[in-house]
Amino acid sequence: MSLRKAIGGSMELGECTMNPGYQGAEGGVSAADPGEKNQDLAEDYTQIKPYAGMPKEVLLLYSSQARYRVPREILFWLIVACTLALVALTVTVIALSPRCLSWWQASPVYQVYPRSFRDSDGDGVGDLKGIQEQLHHFEYLNIKSVWISPFYRSPMKDFGYDVEDFRAIDPLFGTMHDFEELLAEMHNKGLKLIMDFIPNHTSDRHRWFNLSRTGDTHYKDYYVWTDCNATAPKPNNWVSIFGNSSWTYDDLRGQCYLHQFLKEQPDLNFRNPHVRQEIIDIIHFWLGKGVDGFRMDAVKHILEAEHLRDEPQVDPKQPPEDVTTEWELYHDYTTSQLGLHDMLREWRAEMDIYSREPGRYRFMVTESYDYHEVEKTMMYYGTPQVKESDFPFNFYLLDLPQNPSGMWVKHLVHLWMGNMPKGQWPNWVVGNHDRSRIASSAGQIYVRVINMLLLTLPGTPTTYYGEEIGMENINVTDSQIQDPAGKYNSSASRDPQRSPMQWSDDINAGFNTKSNITWLPVHPDYSSVNVEVQKKEPGSVLAQYRFLSTLRQSELPLHRGWFCYVHADANVFSYLRELEGLGRAFLMVLNFGKESAITDLSSIRELPDQLKVLMSTNQVNSGKVLQKSHIPTEVGEGLLIQYSTHTRFNPTHPDQCYVSEKACYLSAMDILYKC
Ligand code: GLC
Ligand code: MG
Repeated sequence: MSLRKAIGGSMELGECTMNPGYQGAEGGVSAADPGEKNQDLAEDYTQIKPYAGMPKEVLLLYSSQARYRVPREILFWLIVACTLALVALTVTVIALSPRCLSWWQASPVYQVYPRSFRDSDGDGVGDLKGIQEQLHHFEYLNIKSVWISPFYRSPMKDFGYDVEDFRAIDPLFGTMHDFEELLAEMHNKGLKLIMDFIPNHTSDRHRWFNLSRTGDTHYKDYYVWTDCNATAPKPNNWVSIFGNSSWTYDDLRGQCYLHQFLKEQPDLNFRNPHVRQEIIDIIHFWLGKGVDGFRMDAVKHILEAEHLRDEPQVDPKQPPEDVTTEWELYHDYTTSQLGLHDMLREWRAEMDIYSREPGRYRFMVTESYDYHEVEKTMMYYGTPQVKESDFPFNFYLLDLPQNPSGMWVKHLVHLWMGNMPKGQWPNWVVGNHDRSRIASSAGQIYVRVINMLLLTLPGTPTTYYGEEIGMENINVTDSQIQDPAGKYNSSASRDPQRSPMQWSDDINAGFNTKSNITWLPVHPDYSSVNVEVQKKEPGSVLAQYRFLSTLRQSELPLHRGWFCYVHADANVFSYLRELEGLGRAFLMVLNFGKESAITDLSSIRELPDQLKVLMSTNQVNSGKVLQKSHIPTEVGEGLLIQYSTHTRFNPTHPDQCYVSEKACYLSAMDILYKC
């Protein structure tokens, strides 16, 4: 501002103010010659003391004195510098921070088979309200992710895997309101709900199938139909997973339809764009309701070859008419067809739309048994550019009982670790509603060590209900068989592993209290093998499961550290978990063999000579101090050893070690950083 203007302003103002400080200045103006006077005036202004109601112009003049201006400018530039430093620091921290684990990585997945978990209304079959009553069990176990097998409206030919209406709850399990309450309550407790999703087929009672049978123009190609001979309906040699031809003749339509499972489960025709859209709409329906993820059922069967040629026989000499089971054919035309992964990726993309809500990542796991073709399973991970499932279920540990030994378990673990695409997240399954309980197939003696393996391997463990207490298969007589697979071949029955959950030693093991019926018999061992009793026993299977699951959650090396093999022999499988920068690491020595063993790990330089057992599955050995050259284990015993070290094993043994979501620890600041 010019001096002239300031003076002008002051003169105008002089006429309307009687402030004494101002009057002094006014006096100066009236007395002297204008040029000189102006200079004096400027100096005089520097003498002004601030006063209330001071005009802006005077204030500005006053505040532009060096003693005010300089500190002000210093302060200004300091603020600029600090802001820039803060932005730079934030950017650096973000750039250096490793990705946080998502909920599906941080917690084990617990599978609930709803018919068998908890029956709230006493009709003998478990239900949604029953699950809600028992949510505290997941909290007790430190489990956040719960997968519930299907509860859609269904005629229950395959216990819910035959869906009559994808948008309705079966009355046996409750109502849509019950579902919404369950989901809300789970979310309140910080639990995630994973639904079963069954895209491959519907029930033969589904509206689409009824319309398709009648040849309705819109629905006629919703399923896979072909001409066939009504009296010998076999358009080709394809067989159902449950046995016999996968084709059934339909009187109404006068054609055969395909069913890779039961004849009451017709396969949808995914070559029809309307079918593809229907499935996407259903995905939206449930994501809109807030479910946290899907377990995609039987995905490898979704597409079939259109040419319908015979599949090659495993034994070319076998008479073709004798081929009745899935094991007798190579499924070149009914599984893993071209286009399958595109479809899954499309579903994934739809799910990702909902994942954009903060903290609401929607998870996808796929079910595909590819037996000896591990590379086929790995394809469900997608590619670095195109995401598919978060992980395909890893079923290899289900083969553990075939040959319990340290080397065999290492082999099964390595099948996954050695084939998993870089940057992906592993997972482990030791039981489900389709497979014998591991306590029965491997033997009760291995239950604890298997749980220890499951909860200390890298990646997400899946626990089938009851495994946390060591439940065993039930014996089901032929007349008691419920499972359609068992009706075809009693040895293939899945009823034994689906018996009611054992909550207590009350009637029906506390599965229900209002009546004396249960859809399958309760295992007779329930008076000792149950949640309530095991909660009171410090060394129980349940107590050990809970300890391990809590440790896994709280210990960085266990949930995101390196995993390194250190030893495997006929009995023992041993590995360690460590994290760069953290002085604490864990060593597991697990005996899966048939004999007790002494393991010598003295060649592992990174281990201290003395090792203290943090937990043994054989409770009396917990707390013992062992020499690393002499680590004793009993059959079925697992040792979890916590040790301190500053030298890591992984840098010198890169071919024995794996890590996903790699991170290093900075002890000075107690943070993880990208390394
Ligand atoms: C999956 C389910 C199984 C069911 C089949 C047909 O494999 O796990 O229980 O029978 O799909 O839907
Ligand atoms: Mg299909």
